Amino acid sequence: MTTPRKLHVKTLGCQMNVYDSQRIADVLAHSHGLESTDDPAQADVLLLNTCSIREKAQEKVFSELGAWWHDYKRYRPELVIGVGGCVASQEGDRLRERAPYVDLIFGPQTIHRLPLLLNQAQGRQAAVDVSFPEIEKFDHLPLPRASGPTAFVSAMEGCSKYCSFCVVPYTRGEEFSRPLLDVLTEVAVYAEQGVREVTLLGQNVNAYRGATPRGGVADLAELIRQVAQIDGIARIRFTTSHPVEFTDTLVAAYAEVPKLAAHLHLPVQSGSDRILRAMKRGHTAAEYLAKIDRVRAARPGLSLTTDIIVGFPGETEDDFAATLALVEAAGFDEAYSFIYSARPGTPAAALADDTPLAVKKERLARLQALIERQSQAYVETLVGSVQTVLVEGPAKRGQGRLYGRIGNNRVVNFLASEQLVGQLVDLKITAVSVHTLRGELSSSRHAA
Ligand code: SAH
Ligand code: F3S
Repeated sequence: MTTPRKLHVKTLGCQMNVYDSQRIADVLAHSHGLESTDDPAQADVLLLNTCSIREKAQEKVFSELGAWWHDYKRYRPELVIGVGGCVASQEGDRLRERAPYVDLIFGPQTIHRLPLLLNQAQGRQAAVDVSFPEIEKFDHLPLPRASGPTAFVSAMEGCSKYCSFCVVPYTRGEEFSRPLLDVLTEVAVYAEQGVREVTLLGQNVNAYRGATPRGGVADLAELIRQVAQIDGIARIRFTTSHPVEFTDTLVAAYAEVPKLAAHLHLPVQSGSDRILRAMKRGHTAAEYLAKIDRVRAARPGLSLTTDIIVGFPGETEDDFAATLALVEAAGFDEAYSFIYSARPGTPAAALADDTPLAVKKERLARLQALIERQSQAYVETLVGSVQTVLVEGPAKRGQGRLYGRIGNNRVVNFLASEQLVGQLVDLKITAVSVHTLRGELSSSRHAA
């Protein structure tokens, strides 16, 4: 048997998966000396980190795996193919009925057991572990390695909200928060490697309740305050939040912690109280609007973004009109919108869903047109303003340009020397296209 040397991890889905994929690479570098490669053809171990939030995401899993079989594994049977993430968690060993060439299956909470699973898989037993051993995951992960000036750090895992449409509580388990010091240590390790911006992650991260060394409990606002004190950290983001858990302590953090980015992603899902109730979101449209008013008062210029589901079972034209009205009233400057997808095992999957797909598609198009208009109007207000940007690296469509993000997370491209990567600079915004801003250096500064 040849010793595997190279690892390719492909990530589908959310930012938690991006974080988990980095930890997968760290774990296998540590245990097996595997070097990461972007090229699947070079790899001896191919891992797919999957997403099951909507049916489309789930179907991608089998087309990706099929392609790996077709292109690589049938020529090189010693190649190890593994599946992780939420589809693995939900399907477990059943995955092998559709993809029998898969050698190992691991869930979002068993990444630390991958070295063992890989050894088993090389012994040619199929290796499966999709359990939820809670915080054990973090106790057994090696220290993270930074790959640039920004990093994701998991503050909590899982979700206990059980929105009626959502598969996450079933695939990632119930909420549990990492102890405060563990999160702070991970941030400090990144900061020492040059990371300037961290995004604190959790499906419902504002429910964070981390144990403190003195037997107390820190909430997300407290975590943000403490992260802000770590040398080198210049900007803090967090995602995703649930409106019910969005407390006044967090509102205060927007007023009092300048390093907290002037951006809030707060999924609302619908503007109809009837649908919000059926979704089990636990708040009304008016309560949502009242919350965002408070955050906006605490942080003038705040950018607000959201997620919306169109065509939840029983959604009428009136319900949909209420969603459009809420989008306008809230003044979102970006929103991610999706057609409802019934997920097996969720309560909503049992509801009658009479709205024809064509109607749902037409509603989605109307919603997206409105969001696009608001988004365009918002970016136009930025032209001529000076914005602080963390320089992240060369721009995607290059030509010597670099890219960074302004506080609200939008990308700006600008001409500057690569030596500025990892620094905060002030840019004057000169032009906008739909999703990208252009800017020019107005000064460079060396913030905290
Ligand atoms: N934790 C987040 C949501 C994570 S899932 C929250 O607080 O809401 C990301 C987004 O996917 C959700 O906000 C929702 O808009 C969408 N989504 C989740 N389940 C879905 C489903 N069954 N069909 C369509 N969209 C869904
Ligand atoms: Fe899903 Fe609702 Fe949690 S959308 S991730 S169950 S907050």
